[in-house]
Amino acid sequence: MKILVVGSGGREHTIIRKLKESPKVDKIYAAPGNGGISRDAECVNIGAMDKEGIAKFAKENAIDIVFVAPDDPLADGMVDTLTENGIRAFGPCANAAVIESSKVFSKNLMKKYNIPTAEYEVFDDPTKAMEYIEKKGKYPVVVKADGLALGKGVIIAQNHDEARAALKEIMEDKKFGKSGNNVVVEEFLTGPEVSVLAFTDGKTLKPMVSSKDHKRAYDNDEGLNTGGMGTISPNPYYTDEIAEICRKTIFEPTVAAMNSENRTFKGCLYFGLMITPDGPKVIEYNARFGDPEAQVVLPRLKTDFVDIIEAVIDGRLDEINIEWSEEATACVVMASGGYPLAYKKGIEIKGLDDNGQVDGAVVYHAGTKYENGKFYTNGGRVIGITASGKTLDEALNKAYAAVQRISFENAHYRKDIGRQHRAVAPNS
Ligand code: AMP
Ligand code: GLY
Repeated sequence: MKILVVGSGGREHTIIRKLKESPKVDKIYAAPGNGGISRDAECVNIGAMDKEGIAKFAKENAIDIVFVAPDDPLADGMVDTLTENGIRAFGPCANAAVIESSKVFSKNLMKKYNIPTAEYEVFDDPTKAMEYIEKKGKYPVVVKADGLALGKGVIIAQNHDEARAALKEIMEDKKFGKSGNNVVVEEFLTGPEVSVLAFTDGKTLKPMVSSKDHKRAYDNDEGLNTGGMGTISPNPYYTDEIAEICRKTIFEPTVAAMNSENRTFKGCLYFGLMITPDGPKVIEYNARFGDPEAQVVLPRLKTDFVDIIEAVIDGRLDEINIEWSEEATACVVMASGGYPLAYKKGIEIKGLDDNGQVDGAVVYHAGTKYENGKFYTNGGRVIGITASGKTLDEALNKAYAAVQRISFENAHYRKDIGRQHRAVAPNS
């Protein structure tokens, strides 16, 4: 088979390396890919938002499956365009991807179908939003832009002034463009966060192994929110008992709700959960693999990835038995100094072999360029280093040992990935 993966980050590199393990795969293309991806797949110079370009390439090159990995092309209907052109594609159609691209949609869906989530109201007027916040008088309060905002459209306001500033930034200054026409104002929840990705064909849902992201830029969860600075799998807080509650109250009701709305979801559905004192609640949905969640979840997949992808597309997921490795995995992201704000690009990365890899771990390239046998930084998040072990501790120690062998000027990484979890980890 020939498979085309759309996207250019660490998640896409992870997907490609997992696809490479399948005996069914002859050739993998990436559009547009990156330096590290170019060592594992053929990169083609088509943008990840170019629906027509991707469809044309897929037809001309007899691509068997197009895997649409990022949120933007999914929200923009790339899977719809491919399907209309008779091309098999993995990912939800636009009318289902809205579960991620509109927080107003997802919050209203949860309210309508009694899926546990934070209490909220929707506003299109900042004055009314502020009146509501003042009337409640409860801080912190969470203000979210409705649309996609690169994971940065969520502000946790500690007081009245911060809430007003958040509303101004999102709704008046339009920091995230039209994503800020509407806001969700919601109750602040507490408890450990868990990411659960699940395969679904719209009928059957099969959760993958759990994980935990670390979204803040600096140690001890300080600094700005980022796309994700590191992950561990499994998430020690996600017990079998919690998993069963999630299945009954969140996962299956969500698939059914989307069907009831005539928005059948097929692909990878991501549940961002918080285990609150009142039980698990949904913080957000994503319509795709998380990044860097994919970097710790997919390495544990033992079943042929292509078999699962085809079963999802064909609506036969119930026939597949999905197996996972018992080992724990950890991923540490090395980012450019300054990220998520301004940073330099084009800095040489030392310590990688010619395939962009290092001994003792797997290096997933997020923002790299490959030129004349050398790798250079080319983005905010540069590489994610994943290792596995019998325990979480072992995985973390191996990942951090590999990080020590790689260097670039102003490299920044968190030193505390998984640390607070070592205490609760049943297996470490
Ligand atoms: P989101 O983009 O919706 O996942 O939000 C980004 C991050 O903000 C989440 O991972 C949480 O850490 C935090 N967050 C979002 N909503 C809430 C909430 N209602 N209560 C507490 N923290 C939240
Ligand atoms: N790591 C969070 C996300 O992919 O949205």
